Amino acid sequence: MPHIKTQTIVVENFKRLVSCAPDDDGEPGPLLGKRMREIGCYEGDLAIGIRKGRVHFFGYRVDLPPEYQGATRFDCQGRLVTPALVDCHTHPAFVASRVEEFLQRVQGATYEEIAGKGGGILQTTRMLRQSPNDALFNATLRNLTLLRNHGVAVAECKSGYGLSLEHELRQLRCIVSAAAQLEMHSVGTCLAAHSLPEEYRGSAARREAYLHLVCEQILPEAARSGMAKRADVFCERGAFTVEETRRVGNAAKAVGLEMTIHADQMSASGGAMIAAELKARSADHLEYTDLMGMKALKDAGTAAVLLPGSTYYLGQDKWADARTMINGGLCVALATDFNPGSSPICNPAFIMHLAVTKLRMSPEEAFSAFTVNAAHALGLTPGEWGCIREGARAAFAIWDLRHEREIAYYVGGNMCAGVVTCEGWRE
Ligand code: NIG
Ligand code: FE
Repeated sequence: MPHIKTQTIVVENFKRLVSCAPDDDGEPGPLLGKRMREIGCYEGDLAIGIRKGRVHFFGYRVDLPPEYQGATRFDCQGRLVTPALVDCHTHPAFVASRVEEFLQRVQGATYEEIAGKGGGILQTTRMLRQSPNDALFNATLRNLTLLRNHGVAVAECKSGYGLSLEHELRQLRCIVSAAAQLEMHSVGTCLAAHSLPEEYRGSAARREAYLHLVCEQILPEAARSGMAKRADVFCERGAFTVEETRRVGNAAKAVGLEMTIHADQMSASGGAMIAAELKARSADHLEYTDLMGMKALKDAGTAAVLLPGSTYYLGQDKWADARTMINGGLCVALATDFNPGSSPICNPAFIMHLAVTKLRMSPEEAFSAFTVNAAHALGLTPGEWGCIREGARAAFAIWDLRHEREIAYYVGGNMCAGVVTCEGWRE
C-alpha cells in the first residue's frame, strides 16, 4: 500500500479507528498500568485529515474542515484503521538464514550449545562479512519490506553481525538506505557488543582488545556518522558480563548514544539491574528478571521490551512476567526481535498473539505495547509516533479486519492490508 506523494490528504471510508490516545489524555506519552487497555476507539463514518505529513483532524467525516475540499483522498474500503506499528527491537541486516541450526534445535540442541560451538551469531557474521554490499543491502531491504508489509512504519534496526568497524558501519549504512527506499522511519542501534568475534577469542588480552575497539572506535564512529542513535549490549553468559556491559554503556553514553540492553534472556544475568544503573531507554527480553530487577527498571524510567517471539522460537519454558510488570507501572512494549537465529518472525500480529496467549496480556495491552509504548521505548518525541492524535505523524496501518481484537486472533497469515504514509511524514 502506498506512500502518497502529496502533502494534504484525507483518509476516509472506514468505520473503526484505534487511536492509542485516550480522549481524556492531556499529555501524550506511554500507556501505563490499567491505561494500557484504553486504546481510544472510534466508530462511525470516520475520516483523518493530514497536512504536511501530520494529522490535523480525525473524527466524523461530516466534520472535516473545508480546507480539505479537493484534497487527495485515500479510500480505506471499510477496513480498520490504526496507527502504523512501531517495532522497537529488530536485527534486519543479515544476509542468510540459519535454517540448519533450526533443524539441529528441533533435534534437541540448544541455542547456547550451538553458539558455544561457533554457530549462532558468529555464523551470521561469517556470512555477512563475505557478502558484497549489494547483497547485504538487498537482504536488508527484503527484511524491512517484510516488516512493513505486516504493518510496521517505524523500526529500530540493530547492527551486531559485523563485529568489526568496517562491517558494523556497513550494516548501519544498509539500514539507512533500505529504510529510506521503503519510506520507513528507522532508529539505528549499534550492537557491536553482540558477541566476541572469532578473531578475538582465545585469551583475556584479545577479549580486552575487542572491548577496546568497541568503546574507542566502533561506538564513536557509529555516533559520529549519525547512523546510530543508540547502543546495545548482549549481557548474557557466553556473551558479555555485567562489568563489560557497564564499560560499553558508559563509552556509548560518552559519545551521545542512548542505551538499550539485551537483558536476562537465558539466565538471571543481572541485565535488568545494569540497564537501570545505566538509565537505559529500554531493557529487552527480561524472561529471567526478578522483582528487584523490575523495580530498578521502574525507578530508572527504563522501558521493558518483551520479545515472546524468541522465547517461543527457542522453546524456552520461561516467559517474561508481563503481568507483574504492567501491574507495577512499567512501560511495557512488544517487538518482533526479527533475526535469523532466535526469532525469524516478521509478523507483529503473531507476537501479539503470543503476548495474549503466553504473557497473559489483553489484546488492548498488546496493541498499546506495539505502538505508543514502543515509541516511548525508543525515546521518540511523545505524541508523534504510534498514535493517531492531532500533531501525530501520518502513518497508519490498514487491516482487513472489523475489530482490533482480531489482530491477535488470526494466526499465521497477514491481515494487514498495508501501511499508508504521505509526503513529509518523517521530517
Ligand atoms: O535478540 N540475544 C541476542 N540476540 C538476538 C539473537 C541473535 C541471533 O541469534 O542471531 C536475540 O535473541
Ligand atoms: Fe535481539
